[in-house]
Amino acid sequence: MVKRIGILTSGGDCAGLNATMRGVVLAADNLMDCEFYGIQNGFEGLMHGEMAQMNVGEFADILELGGTILHSHRTPFKKMRKIENGFDKVQAMIDNYHRFKLDCLVCLGGAGTHKNANMLKDEGLNVIALPKTIDNDIWGTELTFGYSTAMDIAVDVIDRVVTTARSHDRVMVVEIMGNKTGWLALNSAIATKADMVLIPEIPYDEQKIVKAIKKIKDDGKRYAIVVVAEGAKSKEEAALSKKEYQKLWEAYPEKDVGARIVKLISESTGLEGRLVKPGHQLRGGTPNCADRILATKIGVFAAQLIKDEKYGIAVSIRKNQCVASPLEEIAGQTKKIPVDGELVTTALLTGIKFGN
Ligand code: F6P
Repeated sequence: MVKRIGILTSGGDCAGLNATMRGVVLAADNLMDCEFYGIQNGFEGLMHGEMAQMNVGEFADILELGGTILHSHRTPFKKMRKIENGFDKVQAMIDNYHRFKLDCLVCLGGAGTHKNANMLKDEGLNVIALPKTIDNDIWGTELTFGYSTAMDIAVDVIDRVVTTARSHDRVMVVEIMGNKTGWLALNSAIATKADMVLIPEIPYDEQKIVKAIKKIKDDGKRYAIVVVAEGAKSKEEAALSKKEYQKLWEAYPEKDVGARIVKLISESTGLEGRLVKPGHQLRGGTPNCADRILATKIGVFAAQLIKDEKYGIAVSIRKNQCVASPLEEIAGQTKKIPVDGELVTTALLTGIKFGN
């Protein structure tokens, strides 16, 4: 029996999506009789039946290609069950899955994608989710593809900023993506021997930041590098409810946390601050070597699951091996940096301050 495999990429893109799909397709083609159906624009495309059969050759040469050949779209989980203008999105996805006679659906994406995939599993579809994101925040997996490449880019940006910070005696604040976690920020701070890192997991104290920067100056260093995760919050902010924080944030003249930190440092330390914000560059371009291998491994593992008809699975990396985790155990949880873990200790004992 020919297996009909649907593939989609959802949420923010990153390096390694194409490499992963290539892994799935090449391995599946080697392991069984199958056909591939590329779904455009993630779950949005599944809702609207934007799907077409693709041949193996279309995936064969995309290992090092950035982005996603299937395009991606953000389809927030919380809006999935909302009927809009009489359109039932969940039912539409189920209908299209059956209309195209799919045997399974492979969803490449981050935390939101895992929640959507789990919902479709609960609706009776055969689903496998593969861990993509530069944020590295998917529960149950040590690594996600796209993260290593984003780290390389972040480290390159920070390295370049050091020389100009040194020339101008400035504090360079580098704001790094990562959603509600600080994996990218903390690891890139360690890799660049930054002076300070602010992460969501460890809320900061403005006065402590000022004190630490002043000490750096008093000790004779004429510049500093502060890496700020986009989701970093002060202790006061962290204590607020979501609604209260939203209200506060709307009142801020500077919407970026990095900009607020620059202002604080410039006004309170006598050192000039500048904000550097690599944003979507972290998601762009060709995957690095580690991501090419990780993506290919994950794709091949997914093909083996399809061959064995093991569905309702999130592929995770544990001890550097692919493992099959029940989707419901992974979806809906965020992997945060353990505040008393090895990474934080490594940063602290090499002199990096957390501004707390
Ligand atoms: O989840 C990946 C990510 O790049 C986050 O780090 C960031 O907060 C978000 O996506 C940005 O999303 P968008 O591409 O919608 O601006």
